[in-house]
Amino acid sequence: MTMILYVLCYVVYSFHHVSTAVNSVLEDLRMEIKQLRATTTSNQVKAETEIQNLKAEINQLKNTNNKRALPETNLAAEKPAFAATMSDHAKGLGRYQTIVFDTLYNNDLGCYSPVTGVFTAPMNGTYFFTSTVMSHTGQYLETEICLNGQTLVLMYSYDTKHEQGTNSVVLALKTGDSVWVRLHVTEGSMVYGYNWSTFSGFMI
Ligand SMILES: *[C@@H]1O[C@H](CO)[C@@H](O)[C@H](O)[C@H]1NC(C)=O
Ligand SMILES: *[C@@H]1O[C@H](CO)[C@@H](O)[C@H](O)[C@H]1NC(C)=O
Repeated sequence: MTMILYVLCYVVYSFHHVSTAVNSVLEDLRMEIKQLRATTTSNQVKAETEIQNLKAEINQLKNTNNKRALPETNLAAEKPAFAATMSDHAKGLGRYQTIVFDTLYNNDLGCYSPVTGVFTAPMNGTYFFTSTVMSHTGQYLETEICLNGQTLVLMYSYDTKHEQGTNSVVLALKTGDSVWVRLHVTEGSMVYGYNWSTFSGFMI
């Protein structure tokens, strides 16, 4: 009887021992999985951060490149100043049609729109504007700088060969006044682009 009890105790003890050992191994494995998961997640986060950093770097490089080609708008500037040129020829222009100078070299305060071709004064003050417009062979060109749709000064280019007409004006503007270049008459319906025609202005 004692022997049987002894064996039974041994079996129970052994079983408990084995079970404890198994549990301990399981616990170790659980810890290991947890660690692996944590490492994987942290690696993922690291990779994602790395990708974000690289993307930001690429964008910065792109911006630097753009800046080199065409300077960005300086919104912190105190006074507006812009310089615009025309990339391609403007064709089929009608009487009083706006001539859009679509390429910017400068646009402090962003007051000139390369989409509409119009400069809008952000504050009262005295401003200087100048424009040079080149004609195509065979078409004489009459253009003008206008203020709120009112003709101010005219430019003329003869038609026997490419010719550049130019003019300037100093204006006392109030906030919201608009200045742009437009065709004066219909005969010269084309303006030569490729940086041969320009429109610039600034607050004095
Ligand atoms: C700008 O000029 C207009 C017209 O002269 C005047 O009524 C207005 O008060 C001026 N605005 C500022 C901010 O000086
Ligand atoms: C006009 O000037 C811009 C800016 O410098 C340049 O990217 C473009 O190639 C020029 N176009 C021509 C036809 O020279």
